[in-house]
Amino acid sequence: MGDGMVDRVVDDDPLGDAGAVRPYTVLSCCTSLDGYISSASGGRLTLSNAADLDRVDAVRARCDAILVGAGTIRADNPRLLVRDTGRAARRTADGAAATPVKVTVTAAARLTADADFFRTGLDKLVYCRSTAVHRARRLLGEHASVVDAGDPVRMGWVSRDLLQRGIRRLMVEGGGQIHTQFLADNLVDEMHLVMAPVFVGDARARRFVGDGRFPYRSPRRARLVGSRAIGDVVLMRYALSDRFDPDVFDPALAELTGVDTAGVDTAGIDTAGSDTVALRAARTEAALIDGVTSP
Ligand SMILES: NC(=O)c1ccc[n+]([C@@H]2O[C@H](COP(=O)([O-])OP(=O)(O)OC[C@H]3O[C@@H](n4cnc5c(N)ncnc54)[C@H](OP(=O)(O)O)[C@@H]3O)[C@@H](O)[C@H]2O)c1
Repeated sequence: MGDGMVDRVVDDDPLGDAGAVRPYTVLSCCTSLDGYISSASGGRLTLSNAADLDRVDAVRARCDAILVGAGTIRADNPRLLVRDTGRAARRTADGAAATPVKVTVTAAARLTADADFFRTGLDKLVYCRSTAVHRARRLLGEHASVVDAGDPVRMGWVSRDLLQRGIRRLMVEGGGQIHTQFLADNLVDEMHLVMAPVFVGDARARRFVGDGRFPYRSPRRARLVGSRAIGDVVLMRYALSDRFDPDVFDPALAELTGVDTAGVDTAGIDTAGSDTVALRAARTEAALIDGVTSP
């Protein structure tokens, strides 16, 4: 991997954000009703449904890179690919790689090359704390580019470095430590938060975020720009920065129903859309997307 990566990002960037210092960043997560993202053992928990996983795939397909923490790689062994062949084909037709660059962050380099993160897909980047870079290169160097990200590793630095590598749209997919840092450091432009109709009820499980000084603390409220039912889960879309641009992911969200998301009721539940989503869920049931929010 090298400079070629820069040439193969998604090209139709509507942002026109020449002065940007980091990629346009979407944080995507599915939680239980009580705010957890894993089981008590820390293992993968199936929260989302097929239609929502297909939506995640559509969002992935519009990004240049997907970032998860090393903890998620260890717990979930995600592949983090664009699974829908039509979406992958559209990316290549647009001059991008078929599937986004995969990015992870680690302090201790407790990762192995047999993880699906490294075994599948195309370019991979490992942002590593300086003290473990030697170990990371030894373990992973044949499968990924290991970046010395300093000590400590700051997500702002990682974001800026990603932009310099040509990553203009970044999707952050967990887990809890990574969410916490991206949100607390105000590095997220929009958030897609899905709530699944189950409880975990065990404080040993991972929460969506840990403790932190988040920019959106009462009385400062995040801006809800859309919500909808997707089968039995609810998607809430928040604008978290002045850079929020609905056009970046509207096309991905519109794939849910074939209608523009501008028609979605932001105060309640779009039951008409849900019916269509349920039909799509049935069609996609057999093609579950791999990844952190899926089995
Ligand atoms: N429901 C969902 O949408 C969803 C999505 C993703 C994940 N999950 C769940 O979330 C859980 C994992 O979350 P998690 O909080 O334990 O782990 P995580 O956020 O995925 O990763 C944490 C790890 O990332 C590395 N890291 C994080 N910040 C760092 C920094 N500033 N500098 C260097 N390294 C850093 C460290 O790796 P090292 O330990 O290697 O140093 C750390 O242990 C799993 O149970 C998974 O199933 C759920």
